[in-house]
Amino acid sequence: MILVTGGAGFIGANFVLDWLARSDEPILNLDLLTYAGNLETLATLRGDARHVFVQGDICDRALVERLLAEYKPRAIVHFAAESHVDRSIHGPAAFVRTNVEGTFTLLEAARTYRATLEAGMQAAFRFLHVSTDEVYGSLGPQDPPFAETKTYEPNSPYSASKAASDHLVRAWHHTYGLPVLTTNCSNNYGPWQFPEKLIPLMIVNALASKPLPVYGDGLNVRDWLYVSDHCSAIREVLARGTPGETYNVGGWNEKANIDIVRTICALLDELRPSPEGSYARLITHVTDRPGHDRRYAIDARKIERELGWRPAETFETGIRKTVQWYLDNPQWIADVQSGAYRDWVAANYGDRGQGA
Ligand code: NAD
Ligand code: TYD
Repeated sequence: MILVTGGAGFIGANFVLDWLARSDEPILNLDLLTYAGNLETLATLRGDARHVFVQGDICDRALVERLLAEYKPRAIVHFAAESHVDRSIHGPAAFVRTNVEGTFTLLEAARTYRATLEAGMQAAFRFLHVSTDEVYGSLGPQDPPFAETKTYEPNSPYSASKAASDHLVRAWHHTYGLPVLTTNCSNNYGPWQFPEKLIPLMIVNALASKPLPVYGDGLNVRDWLYVSDHCSAIREVLARGTPGETYNVGGWNEKANIDIVRTICALLDELRPSPEGSYARLITHVTDRPGHDRRYAIDARKIERELGWRPAETFETGIRKTVQWYLDNPQWIADVQSGAYRDWVAANYGDRGQGA
């Protein structure tokens, strides 16, 4: 058995589904079910004994210790986090709590638990920490992509809290010998992503004939990876990564935001044409995000060289699948667009107006 934290969120749920499609090794899924957690995503696993779901907080040390003692997992794959930069600007406290204190709690519980295991299981135990490229800061247009050796220069409350958690994970390896692995991945997209992040927000807004709010000039660059490729990278690192090492994961797909939005509009024009004309008519430039990082790009050569991992999807294949998935799943979209989601839209976009 493995313990997955945050397995009802976007990447965690994709990981759980992919894992159980490939293997019968059970998953203990610990998730608090914040606004970002959604058991509907895991509906196909209802009644499947290989998936044990526990609603709970990674900051709850007693709960985590009890679960470890009872289920005796051979590994922890740690996704649970507050993950949205804009929310971290509006309310950083939850980010420090879950991302820093929560990771600390898991590390301490894992350290205590591992000491109770017999030698073989102790040696095989792994703590895989899922992190982000945003810890490295922002690149200029000519800078080389982030290698694992890049200095940490986090700029948002989100990336600062993830950087802090990465440092704790590193220290628990060096000080206590905990066999940790860290992955730093670029922006993910794909099925079941909550429509607060760029790609699903644009698809969902376009289908509802709402404005497509591009921050600033739209020329900020992200390096996009289809979520199932991130899941396969995590499986490789878990199976064959060297404890104490970090692995950058990326799709070699740098794109400016405005190009992403135009691509989504073109795909929707093809797959679900609107009688009112191209969806591109909805593109609206709004006031920029404070402290908005200009460019992220991942140098993913280490994971390819050492573990033979490469993404299976190109951006063109992945974005087409993604748009099609949202077209095919209107009920999932309706369900996540709850009252809490509408409050967020008012808080984040209400006073932005139209920007540059
Ligand atoms: P998400 O926001 O969709 O999901 C987070 C999950 O964690 C939710 O199910 C939520 O209920 C759960 N959670 C939050 N606080 C919790 C707590 N205190 N205890 C237990 N569960 C809690 O996030 P995501 O996009 O799936 O990201 C997963 C991980 O991957 C995060 O650690 C994130 O930093 C990292 N990451 C994300 C991206 C991306 O593009 N989304 C890229 C690189 C790395
Ligand atoms: P996001 O999906 O929030 O990921 P991150 O900030 O972690 O990279 O945003 C991706 C890019 O899209 C980022 O440069 C901000 C931009 N963006 C918009 O232009 N409009 C929006 O409404 C959102 C949510 C993001």
